[in-house]
Amino acid sequence: MKGIILAGGSGTRLYPLTLSVSKQMLPVYDKPMIYYPLSTLLLAGIKDILIIATPQHMAGFEQLLGDGNQLGISLSYKVQEEPRGLAEAYILAEDFLSGDSSMLILGDNIFHAANLQGVLRKAVAENVGATVFAYPVDDPGSFGIIEFDALGRAVSIEEKPAEPKSRYAIPGLYICDAHAPEIAAQVKPSARGELEITSVLQAYLDQDRLSVVPFGRGTIWLDTGSYANLLDAANFVQLIQKRSGSMVSAIEEVAYNESYINAEQLRRLAEPLIKTSYGDYLLKLVAADRQEANMGA
Ligand code: G1P
Repeated sequence: MKGIILAGGSGTRLYPLTLSVSKQMLPVYDKPMIYYPLSTLLLAGIKDILIIATPQHMAGFEQLLGDGNQLGISLSYKVQEEPRGLAEAYILAEDFLSGDSSMLILGDNIFHAANLQGVLRKAVAENVGATVFAYPVDDPGSFGIIEFDALGRAVSIEEKPAEPKSRYAIPGLYICDAHAPEIAAQVKPSARGELEITSVLQAYLDQDRLSVVPFGRGTIWLDTGSYANLLDAANFVQLIQKRSGSMVSAIEEVAYNESYINAEQLRRLAEPLIKTSYGDYLLKLVAADRQEANMGA
C-alpha cells in the first residue's frame, strides 16, 4: 500500500495567512502542519508517499521534506495545477500508484489517539474496496456525511449536505484499492464544480465495497479550516505534549520507532533543531536508547 498526501487547495478560508504560504506549511504549535498527516501515514506502516501540492508551493515542500531518505522513507511530488477537487488526487497519483492500493490523507487533517497505529494497520490489512472512518461532529453541514441504516450499514454519502442525514463526518483519511484512479476518472464535477472525494466513495458504496470504521471516543480528529480551529489545534498539541512528555506527530520519532532510521541518523536530524524543545526531545530519545544499550551490555 502506498500513501498520498493532498496538500493542494488555495486556503482561502485562512486569508491573509495563506496568501503566500501553503496552508499545510502553517505551524501547528511546534511543527509544520504537514508533519501531522505524514506521521499518520507512517504510523499506518506506509513508507512510499506522494505529496500533491500547487505549483506555487511545491518548492517549499521539497525543501522541507526532500526525498524522504533522511527518514528512511520515499517521498515523491506531483503538482496539482488547479484545485479541481480532492478526487483528482487519484488521477494525479495513477502513475505513482501503478496498480497499488493507497491511503490518501488530506494535508490539513490531524489525528491523535493512543491506539491510532493499531486501528490504521487493522483497517489497511482488512480493506476490501475502500475503507473510511466515521466521526461524530456538531456541524455536519461542513463535511462529507455518511448515513447508516438501523443495522449500522452505510446507506448514503453526501458532501456538505444542507440537511444532514446524520452527524457522522468522514474525516480526510481514505483507504482505496487499486481501482480508485479509474473510478475518479469517471467522476463528474459537482454543483460547486469540483471532483468530490465523496463521489468516489459513493461509487464504492454502490458496488457494496465500502467499509466504515467508527473512530472511538479516545480518537481526536482536528480540523484546521479557520483561525480558531488552527489555534485550537496548536493549543491541543501543546497541552498533550506538556502533560504527557511525548511529542505528537514528530516524524523523526515515528521513523525511529518504526526502525526506518537508527539512533545515529536520529541524532543527525536533531542537530539543526538543537536550540528548540523539539531538538532536545529527539536527542533525549537517542540518549535513552544509548542508556538502555549500555545497561544491556
Ligand atoms: C473535505 C472533504 C469532506 C471531508 C473533509 C475532511 O472537505 O470534501 O468530505 O469530510 O475534507 O476534512 P474540505 O474540508 O476540503 O472542504
